[in-house]
Amino acid sequence: MKIAVLPGDGIGVEIVAEAVKVLNALDCRFEMETALVGGVAYEALGHPLPEFTLKLAKEADAVLFGAVGDWKYDTLERPLRPEQAILGLRKNLGLFANFRPALCFEELVGASSLKPDLIAGLDILIIRELTGDVYFGQPRGRRVSTDGHFPGTEEAYDTMRYSRPEIERIAHVAFGAAQKRKAAGSIGRVTSVDKANVLETSQLWRDVVEEIGTHYPDIALDHLYVDNAAMQLVRQPKQFDVIVTGNLFGDILSDEASMLTGSIGMLPSASINAQGQGLFEPSHGSAPDIAGKGIANPLATILSAAMMLRFSLNQPEAAQRIEVAVKKVLAQGLRTADIYSAGTMCVSTVEMGSAVVKCL
Ligand code: IPM
Ligand code: MG
Repeated sequence: MKIAVLPGDGIGVEIVAEAVKVLNALDCRFEMETALVGGVAYEALGHPLPEFTLKLAKEADAVLFGAVGDWKYDTLERPLRPEQAILGLRKNLGLFANFRPALCFEELVGASSLKPDLIAGLDILIIRELTGDVYFGQPRGRRVSTDGHFPGTEEAYDTMRYSRPEIERIAHVAFGAAQKRKAAGSIGRVTSVDKANVLETSQLWRDVVEEIGTHYPDIALDHLYVDNAAMQLVRQPKQFDVIVTGNLFGDILSDEASMLTGSIGMLPSASINAQGQGLFEPSHGSAPDIAGKGIANPLATILSAAMMLRFSLNQPEAAQRIEVAVKKVLAQGLRTADIYSAGTMCVSTVEMGSAVVKCL
């Protein structure tokens, strides 16, 4: 099994190192190869997604990804910015299905900004479509009026676009996931989020999801407008089971949902293509403000490695062993700074990784 390891920028290097340590502690055989991606790749090789990195990712069974980005690259032209690396990987590998669980760990109920009874036991899965929508719509661009008709007028545009097959396949992923979760005790509901009261793209989305839903009579389906969904997520988050939505709405709602649980530093994610190949990364970003300090939380990346074992490497037992080890470490009271509270023990990135290895 071949894993492409792409740590990237900021805290990416520190947290991926801990996940690699955990993988090496398992009794599985992996071939791991590391490559540059993001801002560090731009600095070393002039491009955020060098050819070698893309080739390595394509040829691997799975990609373990850290994070990309730093404010210092904000003035670069868009194709050279670190974010283009992750967008390029998603598009080139066809990673259309993004799984972003928002799970509340019992020990961390107090870390949420919502009242404990609203989030205790929370277990939502956001499925975000990842290779379409306004992120990849053509044309994209910026016009500056030069004909003198509208002196000083500038205009910028991006195209929101979805096709029926793109919506069908992500809907199947969402209903399939809801079925699996139902078998494990969830309520068996898919909530599709759109803005069908305004957008044509969303009306198509709604119609197609509704159609696909008829193939899954055991799963309840409802639809919410994205503004209402954002509100419901903080009002009564436990009403949700699986949420399926487009690329842009999913970007926003998954950040919101992740913070309901108290720490975005705890949440893994998986991006899968039609062949089951996947990219696995923490839900959080590169956090340049704390990079190099040894205080970042490696658990989201370690849990992403567990998702990788389950989704792409067919090692569900190993995945579960990692998840159990993470729970044990939390139960022992170990906390990185982002989830620290009085009465617990504050540990570094490396200490947290080592504690997981010890529990394994
Ligand atoms: C995410 C990130 C990316 C996105 C950025 C870094 C391009 O916010 O994975 O959610 O917008 O998809
Ligand atoms: Mg985001």
